[in-house]
Amino acid sequence: MAPTFDRIAWPVRTQRLSIRPSGEADVEPTWRYRRLDEVGRWITAAPTDPDEYRTQFLSPGCLDKTLVFELDGTVIGDLMLAVEDAWSQREVAARAKGVQAELGWVIDPMYGGHGYATEAVAGLIRICFEDLGLRRVTASCFADNKASWRLMERLGMRREVHTLRESLHRSGEWLDGMGYALLADEWRARQEQ
Ligand SMILES: CC(C)(COP(=O)(O)OP(=O)(O)OC[C@H]1O[C@@H](n2cnc3c(N)ncnc32)[C@H](O)[C@@H]1OP(=O)(O)O)[C@@H](O)C(=O)NCCC(=O)NCCS
Repeated sequence: MAPTFDRIAWPVRTQRLSIRPSGEADVEPTWRYRRLDEVGRWITAAPTDPDEYRTQFLSPGCLDKTLVFELDGTVIGDLMLAVEDAWSQREVAARAKGVQAELGWVIDPMYGGHGYATEAVAGLIRICFEDLGLRRVTASCFADNKASWRLMERLGMRREVHTLRESLHRSGEWLDGMGYALLADEWRARQEQ
């Protein structure tokens, strides 16, 4: 298990879901929805071949940052949790190491529209701020991916950038992008509301 994930007591439960690190048994259930066009369209890598998908999923760089979430024992989605350094000036770089995380999410469309992805990402954000003590989380998406940025806004993430035709989609089109973030302080203030 990746060092980041070692620091957490799994599974983490939310109201309806159970979140845990991914493993070999998750190749097949995640492939079932990740290979769909409506999912692949928005995500960074969308292998069309199951063997290529398996190799990608089981590579240390991927397993180390992938969680899955289950509903009644069925994997219905996955999450990315990639801890990273904040930008800093050189003299204070040690203090900026591993203080933030980039997040990502995918839900099986069969289970979409019931708030499960929102609930899983809310759990992920809580893990970042409470269990890992991070100071900031970020996520980005294509501007056209309304479901993804709506999810972020539901959870109080702040839109920090709206870029213009800066991201190359595999269709060959240069698309607008959105960047969101949430600070631990902002998250805590929302919990107290
Ligand atoms: C982005 C993605 C995870 C969002 O999925 P989703 O189904 O919209 O998200 P949820 O499961 O949280 O469901 C939210 C919807 O259910 C509704 N809902 C029903 N019950 C709810 C509840 N208890 N809590 C929150 N929302 C609820 C919400 O109103 C919302 O619908 P709306 O957008 O029409 O208002 C999904 O579209 C996806 O996997 N896309 C492909 C991969 C992808 O784009 N990943 C992100 C790349 S940046």
